[in-house]
Amino acid sequence: MPLHPEVLSSLSKPMISHRSNEFSKIFTETVELAKRIFRTPHDVLILPCSGTGGLEAVVSNLMSPRDKVVIALNGFFGDRFADIMCAYGIEPISVDINWGNPVIVEDVIETLMKHPDANAFVIVHNETSTGVISDIEEITRAVKRINSDILVVVDAVSSLGGTGIRTDDWNIDIIVSSSQKALMAPPGLCMLAISNTAWKKMESTSLPRYYFDFRRIKQEGGRGMTLVTPPVPIIFGLRKALQLILQEGMDNVFQRNMVMRDMVLKAIKPMGIKLVAKEKYASPTVSALRLPAGVSSQEFRDHIETHYSLLLAPGLGPLEHDCFRIGHMGYITPDDIIFTMSVLERALKDVTA
Ligand SMILES: Cc1ncc(COP(=O)(O)O)c(C=O)c1O
Repeated sequence: MPLHPEVLSSLSKPMISHRSNEFSKIFTETVELAKRIFRTPHDVLILPCSGTGGLEAVVSNLMSPRDKVVIALNGFFGDRFADIMCAYGIEPISVDINWGNPVIVEDVIETLMKHPDANAFVIVHNETSTGVISDIEEITRAVKRINSDILVVVDAVSSLGGTGIRTDDWNIDIIVSSSQKALMAPPGLCMLAISNTAWKKMESTSLPRYYFDFRRIKQEGGRGMTLVTPPVPIIFGLRKALQLILQEGMDNVFQRNMVMRDMVLKAIKPMGIKLVAKEKYASPTVSALRLPAGVSSQEFRDHIETHYSLLLAPGLGPLEHDCFRIGHMGYITPDDIIFTMSVLERALKDVTA
């Protein structure tokens, strides 16, 4: 993902010690900015890892081997979350949804009714593999209505900062995101917002943890410190990126993403490229696109990289061979989308000529 020039220059600030007062001030300010993006007054932790590290940390801090965890699966990243649970000896109960479809509240309710003693419910807000966004506000409300003790866990890696998430208003207990997508910072940091209910739950969970022990990390964070040596320049970059998002105005950012999403939807139709998602559930931050029959995704993307110096993301899992993805979040503008769409059009002509 491209970086804003101000983010880039923040990365080249002279190095400072992570035990200095200057770092403490910058780190504390970054956490406060992140709380505004999550729209929560509760604790936000910043971990030195990508989004997957955060998902794993949620499992090791908040789950125990015999827990009943219901997870909605509608794409690659839901499957990854389920795999992490399995690695820790937790057999999740899945709500299986065809790839390309959103998570629907009725399906979640049906499964939770069968498992009234479920400890946690996990959902990916924006399935980056299929470009599908689910209405988690409606879903989390229903989940808590059925089971007020259940922990609601949301993977918002490709939606936080790019769509209108309201952590507290939507009853989310743990929400995980990472620096490199809509938050338009370099890769390497994960952010989590944690509710009071989740902290309480942590008192009785039993999986081993150290590097990502939320309680230790919170304790250090309380005095502007990190538990371990952090990637200091990335924290500089994240702080600058969050400031830029808030300066632009979160609603303006969301609007810009939706305008770009709609530009993609309009442009692909005459090319014979199809959206994997149904339009109603098309993600504001990423589009997964299916090429016309007979065009290989690998060849198409290689051709574009070689001849137009543009990198397209591959399709994931079963979408690998005939799909590709375009991000319209972070430091991307409508001009970038116009350029990308014109490249797609020309490249399709090249490869089908
Ligand atoms: C929805 C979602 N969850 C999890 C991840 C994994 O995050 P990371 O690659 O930062 O480890 C991604 C990455 O693309 C994602 O899009």
